[in-house]
Amino acid sequence: AVELNPGLLPLDWLLGAWESDEPGEGCFPTIKPFRYTETLHFSHVGQPVINFMFNAFHAESKKPLHRECGFIRMQPGTNRVAFIIAQNSGLVEIEEGELTGQQLNLHTQSLARVSFAREPHVQQISRVFQLRPDGKLEQTVSMATDNQPLMQHLRITYRRAS
Ligand code: HEM
Repeated sequence: AVELNPGLLPLDWLLGAWESDEPGEGCFPTIKPFRYTETLHFSHVGQPVINFMFNAFHAESKKPLHRECGFIRMQPGTNRVAFIIAQNSGLVEIEEGELTGQQLNLHTQSLARVSFAREPHVQQISRVFQLRPDGKLEQTVSMATDNQPLMQHLRITYRRAS
């Protein structure tokens, strides 16, 4: 196996495959609450970059729903982290934030979408990844849209799949 680029050692706790241990919870003022499962893959090829893929499914019907993939970079010598993200909904996004211990707090830095994206349009995303003391990974996602202020959309925990 290729060795992890030393610049990414602070993020080594993310690497590998994760799967939701119990269904995640989705909500937003404008939608019906729902449950979903999700797998996460974080890998690298020795570059100072982590590659990721997130694939979500409806908890009951198992139908594929949301998918995102992209890259993670760190500003050398700092705890500044950037996620470069493409979503299947037609959204592309840069999120940036800080790594504190094994917690990542990210906020939209830049956002664009296909010209025919469904409304309401997302205007802002904030998320937190945290490796908990019990070894589980937790992700919460909040978003603001054209007609709603920043509010939680997703909360889920994962266990290691490999
Ligand atoms: C609805 C954005 C991740 C499942 C929505 C809506 C938006 C949105 C803008 C419509 C809200 C409204 O009508 O007011 C996002 C963004 C995500 C994300 C930006 C990632 C950062 C996910 C994930 C799932 C999911 C991982 C898991 C399955 C749903 C469902 C709905 C919904 C089921 C309601 C039905 C629908 O409108 O399709 N999301 N979402 N979303 N989202 Fe997400």
